[in-house]
Amino acid sequence: MSQQLNTRFFASAIAGSVALLFSISAFAENTSAVKVDAVAAKKLARTDHCLRCHAVDRKKEGPSFQAIAYKYQGQADAKDKLVKHITSGEDRVKLSDGHEETHKFDKTTDINKINNLVSWILAQ
Ligand code: HEC
Repeated sequence: MSQQLNTRFFASAIAGSVALLFSISAFAENTSAVKVDAVAAKKLARTDHCLRCHAVDRKKEGPSFQAIAYKYQGQADAKDKLVKHITSGEDRVKLSDGHEETHKFDKTTDINKINNLVSWILAQ
């Protein structure tokens, strides 16, 4: 009986440490990537009206940030491409009611903040 309890205890202890190891490696992976300030990114997404058309995990007028991250997964130049895409003012998006708008930032926004926002989007 006590032998059985011991076995069970060890089994769950092993399962627990495996889970812990996995979460540690996931954490290490996150920190080795470009450092992203998620709070600043979300704030900028809100103040620059990105959230009017985008959400992290569902489609609105524009694709979700998760869908964008998925689309650009593994592309080394994704960040540069998207920063240019948003800031050039050449890109127009067509909305469901048929009207078009340019897709760009407030021109006064610091480029470092835009870089941070794009890194954050790509990390979703
Ligand atoms: C008026 C609505 C609207 C606003 C505001 C808006 N977007 Fe978009 N966005 C769209 C639409 C629609 C698409 C899809 C365009 C397409 O695939 O051609 C899109 C696509 C994107 C993409 C993916 C581009 C690609 O190549 O796949 C990124 C990144 C993006 N938006 C970021 C932003 C950011 C950052 C902001 C805030 C500055 C923002 N958007 C504001 C409508 C909007």
